[in-house]
Amino acid sequence: MADDTWAGLADKFADGAYATVKGRVRTYVMHNQLLEHLPPPPARVLDVGGGAGHQSFPLAQAGYEVTLLDPSAAMLDKASARLAHLPDDVRQRVTFVEAAGENADEATGGQHFDAVLCHGVLGYLDHPEPLLDQLIRRTAPGGIISIMAGNADAAAVRPALEGRWEDALAAFDARSEIGVLGLPTRADTVEELSAQLRDRGAEPLAWYGVWHFVDWLDLSGSALDPDDAKQLEAVAAVELEAGHRDPYRQLSRIFHLVARKGSA
Ligand SMILES: C[S@@+](CC[C@H](N)C(=O)[O-])C[C@H]1O[C@@H](n2cnc3c(N)ncnc32)[C@H](O)[C@@H]1O
Repeated sequence: MADDTWAGLADKFADGAYATVKGRVRTYVMHNQLLEHLPPPPARVLDVGGGAGHQSFPLAQAGYEVTLLDPSAAMLDKASARLAHLPDDVRQRVTFVEAAGENADEATGGQHFDAVLCHGVLGYLDHPEPLLDQLIRRTAPGGIISIMAGNADAAAVRPALEGRWEDALAAFDARSEIGVLGLPTRADTVEELSAQLRDRGAEPLAWYGVWHFVDWLDLSGSALDPDDAKQLEAVAAVELEAGHRDPYRQLSRIFHLVARKGSA
C-alpha cells in the first residue's frame, strides 16, 4: 500500500489507546457482546480493518479461526509483533491479509466466514457503502456481521466534556469531527446503519453502547489507573451492563451493532 495513513498512528493506537482503562474496557465489552452471538468455536472469523488484532486475537485464543485483513502494513506489523507473544496453537489460528476491505472478495479468494467484524473502520471512510457491500458478501448465509462505529446521536458529548461549548452546540447536528487520533472521523446512527444492513440482506439482532463512564471521566480529565486490576474489573462490569441498557447506551460515543445475514 503506497499511502499508509495509519503508519504514524500505529504506536499511538495499538500501544497507547489500548493500554488505558478505556481501551481495556472496550476489548472486554466488545468480546462479551460478540460471544452472545457468535457460533461456538471453531468458526471462521474475518476481521476487516482488524488493526493490531486487539479484537480478534481474543477470539483466536478462544478457539476461532481468524483472518485479519487490513490495508496498513504498519498495523499488520503491530499485529504480528503482538501475535508472537501468544502460544503456538493461537498463532496457527490467525492469518494476515494486507488489503483494503473494499477488496476483500479478491484478497480472501472469495472465502465465506461465519462472522465478519468491522470495528472502528467505517468512520474513516467518506463513502462506506462499498465496504458494507463486502462485509455482507464475505459473510456465510446465516452468519454474523459485527460493526462498531461512532454514534452521531452523541456527537455533542466530547466537545461538551472538553469544555468546548460552541463546538458542542454545533455538534448536535454534525456528522464529522477530528477524532481523538487526530484524523477526520465520520459518525453513523444505529437506525441508518441498521437500514443499510437490511438493504443488503442482513437483519440487525442487537446493538450496544461501548463506552460510558470511563469515556466521560477521561474526556473531563480524570482518567482511571490501568494498573488497578480490582477497579478495572469492577469498571468493566459496570460498562458492560450500561452498554445493554437505555438510556445509557444511547449516550455512548461508540456503538456496537450485530446483524445476521439471511440464510437464503
Ligand atoms: C481505529 S483502527 C481499528 C482497528 C481494529 N478494528 C480495532 O478495533 O482495534 C482502524 C483500522 O482501519 C484500517 N482501515 C482504514 N481504511 C480501511 C479500509 N478501507 N478497509 C479496511 N481497513 C481499513 C486501518 O488501517 C486501521 O488498522
